[in-house]
Amino acid sequence: MAQVDFGNVTNIDVLNLKSLEKRAEAVIGRGEFGYISEGSDDGYTKWRNTNAFKDVHMLPRVLQNVENPDQSTTFMGEKLASPLMTAPIAGNSLAHTSGEIGLAKGAKEAGIMMSQSTFASKTIAETAAVSDGAPYMFQLYMPKDWGYCTYLLDEAKNAGARAIILTADSTLGGYRELDVMNHYHLKGKIANLAGYNTGESGAGAGSLFKESMQKLNLGTIEKLADYSGLPIIVKGIQDARDADLAIQHGASGIYVSNHGGRQLDGEPGSIECLPAIAKVVDHRVPIIFDGGVQRGTHVLKALALGADLIGVGRPFSYGLALGGWEGVKAVADHLKMEIYIAMQLTGCQTIEDVKKMHVSTDFQI
Ligand code: LAC
Repeated sequence: MAQVDFGNVTNIDVLNLKSLEKRAEAVIGRGEFGYISEGSDDGYTKWRNTNAFKDVHMLPRVLQNVENPDQSTTFMGEKLASPLMTAPIAGNSLAHTSGEIGLAKGAKEAGIMMSQSTFASKTIAETAAVSDGAPYMFQLYMPKDWGYCTYLLDEAKNAGARAIILTADSTLGGYRELDVMNHYHLKGKIANLAGYNTGESGAGAGSLFKESMQKLNLGTIEKLADYSGLPIIVKGIQDARDADLAIQHGASGIYVSNHGGRQLDGEPGSIECLPAIAKVVDHRVPIIFDGGVQRGTHVLKALALGADLIGVGRPFSYGLALGGWEGVKAVADHLKMEIYIAMQLTGCQTIEDVKKMHVSTDFQI
């Protein structure tokens, strides 16, 4: 592999994931931090994502002969040290010069899944080269231009992406007031766009979304699968009916997410949507979940409610901002430690045990 510049790298102490936000704010520019951290409109759904975990209660088992619980797992045939993934976040060089290559290195060192956004600040090839065989998936904003779409799919395939994550919840950008107040636009070129044509600089998230296809439909799944030959995972599912239809139309995975509360404000917490979706999916395909995960117990709750892989977004960007790839690894390691404790205390030796744990919820969905 060619020499890779990971920028300033330093190990960081992590007390908990929540506390990273304030620390990162001090090192990220105001506009950049606003863009990364905010939710849309009033930030209600973003708030609810984390807070809804309080309405999930775990029933621990005792006398289960558990010692040194094992959180390793397999997702779509890939062995992972923990059921965690770096959720696809745009423009990670806003947080740290190394951008997605820092994330990829941190994920690889932590043994977790890496996923990369179409709107990343590093190219697919650069990022996947750092993953270098470690499990990696590419998130697609379906471009209006099929030529650009096939370019992205070819790049992802050539780089060894295990799957394409098709984001379906962002056919327009949510209204984000901090970006308006800060006059903030995603700076610089979107690396994957620059590779296709001369690139576009200074585009706001809103205008980037407008470049993506609005009229997505179920046929899109098959079209992408046929062209790429890769499994297609549909991201942004909240309604169980959509999960069922997506599977009927060829989806190889369902990704339960409300985009970190950045799109439609007024959705429930993502965790509230998971049980009904898991029921309909009924193990036909694997489920990825993200939305407000800040604790090891949140990971256990999502697994027990039917998820197979748990995406964590902003906290990894903050870890990246604070320590480059070592910061990303430190965040993953911290979460693993919390998962370890929670597994021991719930009487779960393995992730399969976690999935069988009894949990209660008051969710109406
Ligand atoms: C966002 C996109 C680009 O939420 O994922 O800003």
